[in-house]
Amino acid sequence: MMDKQYLIVGNWKMNKTPSQSSAFVQTLIPEVETGNFVEGLSLAICPPFTALDCVAELLKDSKIALGAQNLCAAVEGAFTGEISAAMLRDLRVSYVIIGHSERRTIFQESDALIHQKVKIAQAHGLTPILCVGETLEEREAGRAQAVVQRQITLALESITDPRCVIAYEPVWAIGTGKTATVDIAQAMHAFIRGLLTEQFGKDGSDMHILYGGSMKVNNAAELLAQPDITGGLIGGASLIAEDFIGIAQCAR
Ligand code: 13P
Repeated sequence: MMDKQYLIVGNWKMNKTPSQSSAFVQTLIPEVETGNFVEGLSLAICPPFTALDCVAELLKDSKIALGAQNLCAAVEGAFTGEISAAMLRDLRVSYVIIGHSERRTIFQESDALIHQKVKIAQAHGLTPILCVGETLEEREAGRAQAVVQRQITLALESITDPRCVIAYEPVWAIGTGKTATVDIAQAMHAFIRGLLTEQFGKDGSDMHILYGGSMKVNNAAELLAQPDITGGLIGGASLIAEDFIGIAQCAR
């Protein structure tokens, strides 16, 4: 059996100016080089759009991949303020976060729009990191699996390319310091694994399913040890190099 492969991704959200991002990456790179990482661990960081260019330059010869936090569902044209998949590819961006709960709730992104974004990302060679997750109200009403199933089914409808990462981020755990218990997280990840193998066959068992929501150095090891959790999407803790590296070191 192949050793478990991990992917640890930092989502900086709307934090760090280009100069702060450059300074941060300059401290992160040497820590990663000397960080005693296991085989099969991939790292990625997702700075704000304005810092992608300078961070891409700094990451050129490093093992850390670059991701963006969003993209436009259209190819190009009159979409003031939007950023296209081609623009991201040109900056050597590999991953793009799609359907984060903050985009779904604050910016009213629909399942249909998220589906368009997944398609356009893949068509341009970007790997989507599709975020799904239920609210506290939905969990308490016993609808957590149904919500996640709907989000995944609609976002990935008719998608056949397995180059896609899923991030399960229960909304009630994001930025709250309230992490899902390992049992809750593993159960949902196993459920998602089932949906992926149904849709993608054998490839579905190799797709990354990340956990996100208050993942920290002190809870990462037990979450990452679960059979269907193959990485993390880290918000707050990814803003501090030591914490981000500490979480990555839990992946073994
Ligand atoms: P926190 O790690 O700050 O809870 O954020 C999680 C998240 O939303 C990552 O996308």
